Amino acid sequence: MPSRDLTGVLDAVLAGIVVLDDKGRVELVNAAASRILEVSAGTVQGHPVERLLGAEHSLSVLTRSVLESGRSSAEDQCAVERRFDNDLTVDIAVSPLLTDSGSTDGVVVILRDSTLQRNLQQVVSEREALSAFGRIAAGVAHEVKNPLGGIRGAAEILAARSADQKTLEAAELIVREVDRIAGLVDDLMAFTHGEAVRLAPVNIHRVLDDVIELMALDPLSHKVTIERVFDPSIPDVLIDSDRMTQVFLNLVRNALQAMENEPRTLTITTGMRLDRRLRTGKGEHFPTLRIEVADTGPGIEPEVLEKLATPFFTTRIGGTGLGLALSRHWVACHDGTLRIESTLGEGTRVRVEIPMRTAT
Ligand SMILES: Nc1ncnc2c1ncn2[C@@H]1O[C@H](COP(=O)(O)OP(=O)(O)OP(=O)(O)O)[C@@H](O)[C@H]1O
Ligand SMILES: [Mg+2]
Repeated sequence: MPSRDLTGVLDAVLAGIVVLDDKGRVELVNAAASRILEVSAGTVQGHPVERLLGAEHSLSVLTRSVLESGRSSAEDQCAVERRFDNDLTVDIAVSPLLTDSGSTDGVVVILRDSTLQRNLQQVVSEREALSAFGRIAAGVAHEVKNPLGGIRGAAEILAARSADQKTLEAAELIVREVDRIAGLVDDLMAFTHGEAVRLAPVNIHRVLDDVIELMALDPLSHKVTIERVFDPSIPDVLIDSDRMTQVFLNLVRNALQAMENEPRTLTITTGMRLDRRLRTGKGEHFPTLRIEVADTGPGIEPEVLEKLATPFFTTRIGGTGLGLALSRHWVACHDGTLRIESTLGEGTRVRVEIPMRTAT
């Protein structure tokens, strides 16, 4: 049988393969691994992986530990899934290459890009959670909204007939609180309107400029530096501009509320990702539009970060905890995702990604 060119075979494999020697120097990188790691095979050969990717990169950490222990990474952690700086979610398996005498002679790394699968899972689970919440919200809104009108009317009659100041104040308090609950119920109703988005070709930068303009009216925006890092090549996209304005108003307001201390910088970045595509679950593929809202606030504790998907979760006095849940809802209605990344002491970055449908 003719012997094949091993490099050609490895390049045809869909998984990324990297082979390192016993000192952690790169011996081989196949085509898929060069794409995932964003390195070119020719330039990395012979270089220590830590120098190429940085000592803190998950691949450097895992390969170091396997080289030292001689045990495969899968023995310690069944599925090692990592998010790389370039935003790919990658399953990593590292196995030692052993000599006949059993000593470690190097390692082989298998990288599987599970970004698309991860994005799909996230879209599906966010949708499921929101639609379950929507059903509850619909029930509650319906039951609460009806009697509210009656309570408000009765309190107005009481106020009109009150003989003393105390009764008048109590009746007015009832009216105010009823109005507050009615406002909340209106917010809840938004979750029940399912896919009710009205799509029209919109310049996303116009939406963001409107949000910034509205934000300037808020006293919280005092002494806040706003940076717009807009990609001018983004065409008009099919979105519901009212809903998207609401989304970014919520995100910007959260950012302003978080930035109590200087420096207060709010950065809004837009961009397109043409290489990787978000599948909508309807068999369609679109390039993705990405909008990021980043602040220089205190960041979010990991325990808090986990709870942010839950409606009504708030750490703010006077907050309802619906801002993010509603934003997520409207983004999901656009088949998109909303992710929050935060570093304590540095700030928070909220990333909205939506499939870029254009009118033509
Ligand atoms: N940019 C941010 N920096 C730090 N914490 C944040 C940021 N954005 C959101 N949070 C946290 O997430 C919580 C929930 O935010 P969300 O917008 O859902 O509700 P809220 O702002 O508390 O109330 P509201 O319903 O008025 O928006 C906030 O209470 C806050 O703890
Ligand atoms: Mg909020």
